[in-house]
Amino acid sequence: MRASRQETGCPPSAGEPASFGQLLRSLRQRRGLSLAQLATRAHFNRGHVSKIENGKRPPSVSFAKACDRALDAGTTFADIALALESASRPQRGWVRPGQLPSAKRNFVGRQEEMRHLDGLLRGAEQALAVPVAVISGLPGVGKTAVAVQWAHHAVNNGHFRDGQLFVNLQGPGPGTAATPSDVLADLLRTLGVPADRIPADLDQRAATFRSYLHGREMLLVLDNAADAQQIYPLLPGSPGCAVVVTSRSRLPGLMSVAEAATLRLTELCQPEAALLIRAIIGDPRADADPAAVDVLAERCGRLPLALVLAGEHIVSRQQRSADALARELKPERARLNLAEGDVVLRDAFATSYRALDEQSARLFRLLGLLPSRLIDADATAATAGVSQDEASRMLRGLDSVHLIHRQDERHYLMHQLLRTYAADLARQMDQEAGHIQALRSTPDGVTTGSAPLSSLVA
Ligand SMILES: Nc1ncnc2c1ncn2[C@@H]1O[C@H](COP(=O)(O)OP(=O)(O)OP(=O)(O)O)[C@@H](O)[C@H]1O
Ligand SMILES: [Mg+2]
Repeated sequence: MRASRQETGCPPSAGEPASFGQLLRSLRQRRGLSLAQLATRAHFNRGHVSKIENGKRPPSVSFAKACDRALDAGTTFADIALALESASRPQRGWVRPGQLPSAKRNFVGRQEEMRHLDGLLRGAEQALAVPVAVISGLPGVGKTAVAVQWAHHAVNNGHFRDGQLFVNLQGPGPGTAATPSDVLADLLRTLGVPADRIPADLDQRAATFRSYLHGREMLLVLDNAADAQQIYPLLPGSPGCAVVVTSRSRLPGLMSVAEAATLRLTELCQPEAALLIRAIIGDPRADADPAAVDVLAERCGRLPLALVLAGEHIVSRQQRSADALARELKPERARLNLAEGDVVLRDAFATSYRALDEQSARLFRLLGLLPSRLIDADATAATAGVSQDEASRMLRGLDSVHLIHRQDERHYLMHQLLRTYAADLARQMDQEAGHIQALRSTPDGVTTGSAPLSSLVA
């Protein structure tokens, strides 16, 4: 019989995941037993039980079975020990995991972010904590690129000798995110646990993963996280490990549970944005018209994804110049159609937009119609016809998923390309868009957040 999560005293999935030893201690205490009593029941000496609870010794299968019997825990501990035993058995063809995607040849800038991540690692060496860094920012700003670049840099400097794991968590987007249970099963398979030895229960999977990583130096890159709940069960507990998470959300919950450090990426500065285009199209084409490269970088909003799409567009067309593309992108809406292969700029924004609730989605669209990129919370309330508290709440929500960027208590900025995208949607979907736009073009239109707007909105 398998013990349920409640019976084993496991922490809930939203909390800190446990290793074999932590799980054992938790259930022993729930059963009201001392270390000595468990040792007697399981026929092992007290010191042995203590070392396993403290993660200082790996559990054998016979020990785990004895604990299951002594604690009436079904096959909870045996399942974990069997999985661990399979993973530690030398296997033919098994190599240390090195799952990082390749680093970018054309990587530019982000020196400060790299230093910040280096510092995190150094701090953790002293604190004996598992460093967790969250890199967040708007779609296509370069979160994955920074995580991967830094990971290679750390490996080159001799860190994470036991391997690097890279997982795409497939968030955001309703219903698409990978479940922690499936991710753990994949990770355990990668670490050498045969499919039939992977425990069925989420907590057992997490405990096996944590126990396997105990004492190892492993980097875990969790790319594209949907929310903090998806991350908790995947966190290792061993100080030699480190976790880098990328997400379009700020994952606030993770900061309180895992004390994660955060890095919020913004668009590149002008020289770096131009450098990225230059790196892709090559010096001869960039030198032919450096001013056009600068204009193009601005029209791409200095957003790495747009810059890369623009650069690749030029490279893939022999006769195309930076100037010709810059002119083609003069109308703001044309920029949303930047695409190469199956990557389309508009689609990158759409996955974040579609994850919004109906009210926030409507507000996002209307914000695109405001006369300035600078959003005033009071004017927003008037535009959307909601109370100021409600407007503030929704603005904070949009900020937490990086669709706008908080400047101070009452002001937010929207990235130029997102603004174009939002306005485009508003024109298609919102009856009031025409009225708002008409006011936008009058001298005392929405800039003042004036009353007439709210009356236009249902
Ligand atoms: N600093 C950089 N130097 C060179 N290329 C970059 C840089 N940052 C990002 N890129 C490139 O820009 C594109 C978008 O970057 P990336 O995929 O890392 O963005 P992201 O923020 O992870 O996007 P998403 O929100 O969709 O996950 C990629 O082709 C990436 O290689
Ligand atoms: Mg990414």
